[in-house]
Amino acid sequence: MTNITLALGDITEQSVDAVVNAANSSLLGGGGVDGAIHRRGGSDILDECRDLRASRYGKGLPAGQAVATTAGRLPARWVIHTVGPVFSTTEDRSATLASCYRESLRVADELNALTVAFPAVSTGVYRWPLDDAARIALTTVRDADTAVTEARFVLFDQRAYDAFETALNALP
Ligand code: AR6
Repeated sequence: MTNITLALGDITEQSVDAVVNAANSSLLGGGGVDGAIHRRGGSDILDECRDLRASRYGKGLPAGQAVATTAGRLPARWVIHTVGPVFSTTEDRSATLASCYRESLRVADELNALTVAFPAVSTGVYRWPLDDAARIALTTVRDADTAVTEARFVLFDQRAYDAFETALNALP
């Protein structure tokens, strides 16, 4: 059974087996969580991402999928890179957002990672409304078939924390 916990803070500081990165398809870095992970984790992570692009993901990592690298200087052992969907008002991309969490947990299981920290994927640059993103994230993780014992949602500000807390309390 996966224990879902919430924390207010910076995902790069979490002492967990794996941290999830809200990456983009290029896997070559960006802003937000992605920028923070590469800045703090150091260049080894980017080198591994480049290798992944060259070997397995020539066209980039598709949205909804996940892939792991080591975590460089971060306290975590692994970084699981996933690509969230850009929010759209004309197309329902919820299944892709749910897939980010499911696939990240599947990769965590492959690594035997028992504790995993997640950011609120797609709620920054990709503009997904927090309340809806929180509901999708929490429902998907709660229902996942995984050996992960702790899924820690690391929220960067109080507004995001409150949205996740409300959604967690409202889970059916
Ligand atoms: N720790 C925890 N949460 C954070 C941190 C941090 N250090 N920094 C930001 N957040 P975003 P996305 C929150 O934009 O929407 C990048 O350029 C932030 O407040 O990181 O999936 C990538 O390269 C927000 O709630 O990810 C992609 O191009 C949440 O993390 C694109 O952004 C996610 O915001 C991905 O956009």
